[in-house]
Amino acid sequence: MSSRMRGDSPSGRIIAKHFLSDKVEHFTESVIREMTRQAMLHGAVNLAQGFPDFPAPAEIKQAAQQAVGADVNQYAITWGAKNLRNAIARQTQIWQGVVVDPEKEITVCCGSTETMIATLLAVCNPGDEVVIFEPYYENYGPDSVLSGAKPKFVKLRPPRDENGEWTFDEKELRRAFDRHTKAIILNTPNNPTGKVFSREELLLIRDLCLEFDVLAITDEIYEHILYDGTEHISMASLDGMRERTVTINGMSKTYSVTGWRVGWAIAPEKITNAIRKVHDFLTVGAPAPLQEAGAAALSMPAEYYSKLAEGYRLRRDHLLPALTGAGFRCFRPRGAYYVMTDISGFGFKDDVSFAQHLVQNIGVAVVPGSSFYRDPKDGARQVRFAFCKKPETLDEAVRRLGRLGGGN
Ligand SMILES: Cc1ncc(COP(=O)(O)O)c(C=O)c1O
Repeated sequence: MSSRMRGDSPSGRIIAKHFLSDKVEHFTESVIREMTRQAMLHGAVNLAQGFPDFPAPAEIKQAAQQAVGADVNQYAITWGAKNLRNAIARQTQIWQGVVVDPEKEITVCCGSTETMIATLLAVCNPGDEVVIFEPYYENYGPDSVLSGAKPKFVKLRPPRDENGEWTFDEKELRRAFDRHTKAIILNTPNNPTGKVFSREELLLIRDLCLEFDVLAITDEIYEHILYDGTEHISMASLDGMRERTVTINGMSKTYSVTGWRVGWAIAPEKITNAIRKVHDFLTVGAPAPLQEAGAAALSMPAEYYSKLAEGYRLRRDHLLPALTGAGFRCFRPRGAYYVMTDISGFGFKDDVSFAQHLVQNIGVAVVPGSSFYRDPKDGARQVRFAFCKKPETLDEAVRRLGRLGGGN
């Protein structure tokens, strides 16, 4: 019997392992998306997945409607509609002082999710290593595996008290760099910690990238969601980094349209050419009318962005004391729209059993901390809440969390 036939049933119902890629053995399905399915199943308030439950700005929706009405219904140029690329280049210069050639240095993809995997596939070879701070946005692990690279994790350590900052150990970061290091993936403002990397921290990372000839792949999707006077600094704006940085961003979070699937990479020409090739064969292009709406979105006045951040600050400042009152120890986010919490006070075995209790019995869905770490034990005392929700959604969640009895 050939090995291909072994393990297969005559009815074909058992899918033999040999049909599957070894790569998919190395990661699981997304826990975040699974928690959303569970929230729907149990009628729970979904504070798990980071999507807004309130309307997107009217101007942007009108721009999308107009584009469909004007028959922008066929493939856009594979690397992105010209209007959108021009708008991205214009705003990148205004916001970060970085001059970008929209013809040669921008690739529009289906969300920053596709942008990240297209970038990694474009730059990684088997044996390459990619440095990732953990806790990390869960896609980066599978993305590295799929691109053939080996992830190397460096710890972000939680602050001692609610108002402190997540920090990393400079020596530990240096130890992660060696001759196999191809890239570092950096996410600032950060999901799930809410950390906004400071200029000093970025300069330190910059120096390592220069010393070890490493590429920085920066996910800046929360760049406009900042609190407490923090500043977003784009890695590409630092001296020496323009030529070795891929900046990833998108419409999802800034314009509250996570379902539109429009994101982009800004990279030097040679890297852009490689990303464009991969992107073309992955998806051909992002939705054409929504790219036109993206050009309109990027033309919103400056006050749109300050209102966006202020709206999320109010939600954060409302949710944090309520979570503390319910028995969670909170780590105050400086950016993005998540709060990582410590659940030690509830006395549960681990984060997964606690999250199951919350979704099934309390009626609130969160993300277990372990899904942000390579070793589940590291996140076993944490869960993440997303607060990109209507005030009434957050109120209802807080009301339900009152049933927890305040921990101890
Ligand atoms: C850090 C980070 N990057 C990327 C994404 C996904 O972005 P997109 O909707 O553009 O694919 C998310 C969504 O939660 C995120 O938190």
